[in-house]
Amino acid sequence: MEKTMKDNVIHFYNTADFSQEEILRLIDLALKIKAGKQKIQLLGKTLAMLFFNPSLRTRVSFAVAMQKLGGLALDLPIKEGGSYTFEFERGVVMDKGTIEHVKEAASVLSRYCDGIAIRASELITSSKDSVEVTSWETAAKDKVIKTFMEYASVPIINMESNVYHPCQGFGDAMTIKEKLGNTRGKKYVLTWVYHPKALPMATPISEILSACDLGMNVVIVHPKGWEFDTEIVQTMGKKAELASGSLSIVNNMEEGLKGADIVCAKSWGAAKFYGSWEEEKKMKEKLKNWIVSQKKMELTNHAYFMHCLPVRRNVEVTDEVMDGKNSLVIDQAENRLWGQMAILAFVLGGIDKYENQ
Ligand code: CP
Repeated sequence: MEKTMKDNVIHFYNTADFSQEEILRLIDLALKIKAGKQKIQLLGKTLAMLFFNPSLRTRVSFAVAMQKLGGLALDLPIKEGGSYTFEFERGVVMDKGTIEHVKEAASVLSRYCDGIAIRASELITSSKDSVEVTSWETAAKDKVIKTFMEYASVPIINMESNVYHPCQGFGDAMTIKEKLGNTRGKKYVLTWVYHPKALPMATPISEILSACDLGMNVVIVHPKGWEFDTEIVQTMGKKAELASGSLSIVNNMEEGLKGADIVCAKSWGAAKFYGSWEEEKKMKEKLKNWIVSQKKMELTNHAYFMHCLPVRRNVEVTDEVMDGKNSLVIDQAENRLWGQMAILAFVLGGIDKYENQ
């Protein structure tokens, strides 16, 4: 596990870097903030936000969270017109297109701001097809966010990298606690669904890690060939065991959904096809029946339905499920706001001073 605390600076890169006790305390804090039972102020604090990729929920919820806490969020227009480009390599002769090395950028932002939030995924793209990345092994290095973590002297918050989307995972855990109360022994199913593009694995990885932290019986459902990184699955298994839950993997959606209390749908690109999407596209043509429908939801224990959004209606999930009474998708998106207020209090303000007030 990566150490995220350096010189008393807490980076929020992956929820699995924190103890389950810390995560559960943070969820309690988020629920108290939402219920108006806990007031937190980050007066005079500033968060710099760097979006290397598009976003609706993460961008707006972080900006509103900082505003509600009395602070300021600066959304730096680094991608507009492709105008601001960073260099990440050491010792490079910068005589090409990059404007500034991250070493200076991260150091300067650390003097102005109290935290830096970054979205940097090579697989989130507004183009019609998925972008080319060379391999999962290369993408998994999370070069952009890791380089900022190396050079910044203030906390870095991961707003989605190639590997993790901890704010989504945390917001989901808060939503599940809010709806189910006691989560231990409840069945959580994260199922792969068809999507025309090869999407990042960050969200499902963080969603599963969070369900494991809640002591749920976690079932990952995906077609053969869409396996997650072995080491990450080992971490999920350890987290599940620590919380007295379980982790299993099945390759049949109907079988996996049986008796579920929560069904979370998400598509992702298979690691083995990174860099060769045409091959994946051909394989996926046969997987269009991987959609969450009402008929499939009837196999569950009246499960709640979750999706991180944005969603492709009637491709990933039918209208009937999305608009049904058990759909949590809008509550789930709302909880990104309250969850991130707790995360901001933790990394920018120090959680302890907010307890017992
Ligand atoms: N779920 C999520 O992160 O949404 P955005 O891509 O809109 O931020």
